[in-house]
Amino acid sequence: MNVLAIMGSPRKGEATDLLVDKAIEGVRSKASDCNVKKLNLIDYDIQHCRNCLICRDSRTTEPVSKCSIRDDMDQICIDVLDSDALIFGTPVHMGYATGLMMSFLERICWVFAKPEKNILSIRGCPLPRSDRKRKSVTIVTSGIVPPMYRKLCNQAAPLIKGVIKDSLNARTVGDMYAGDIEHKGVECYFGKAFKLGSKLV
Ligand SMILES: Cc1cc2nc3c(=O)[nH]c(=O)nc-3n(C[C@H](O)[C@H](O)[C@H](O)COP(=O)(O)O)c2cc1C
Repeated sequence: MNVLAIMGSPRKGEATDLLVDKAIEGVRSKASDCNVKKLNLIDYDIQHCRNCLICRDSRTTEPVSKCSIRDDMDQICIDVLDSDALIFGTPVHMGYATGLMMSFLERICWVFAKPEKNILSIRGCPLPRSDRKRKSVTIVTSGIVPPMYRKLCNQAAPLIKGVIKDSLNARTVGDMYAGDIEHKGVECYFGKAFKLGSKLV
């Protein structure tokens, strides 16, 4: 099993990064022989999507179409393609996923999907280019908004869940919100992140 962890905080070694590591430990506790790759998005050259739509309009029958931009997403797309399970981690920035995570999601959106799904009267919504099924979990951290108010502050988890379902054929098997980290600290969420990771196996 190939597990790909995608960490969208600009800060390494802080809350989101630590919880993603705990989720990886959880996966390994159940599948010691799995291959795990972790991408700290901050370390990569990921340019902004330019809306040229070359990827969307590609007629390729491959599971991934080609983006017009040449940067580290070339390799990252291969990693995503090879993955069976995904771990997403992002802090909320103003209630949403970080800009880093958003840039990543925009870049995978049409590369992994073709505009062939119709929802209600909307034609041309994303449909995964490949039938390969994946599992996914999402970890969201926030500085001050406690878990009881998560709905007010967490647009990140539903966004990630939607994009990866529509583009990567990935089913979210669990998510967690680690809120109020500034007061509660992050350690109290370690157990939850570990359990979440183990759900991927
Ligand atoms: C630009 C920015 C916006 C933020 N917006 C929120 C917010 O809306 N609600 C909140 O509770 N925390 C907010 N935070 C705090 C982060 O969510 C918090 O510090 C988080 O734990 C950071 O994760 P990290 O430690 O992995 O970097 C914001 C932080 C930044 C830098």
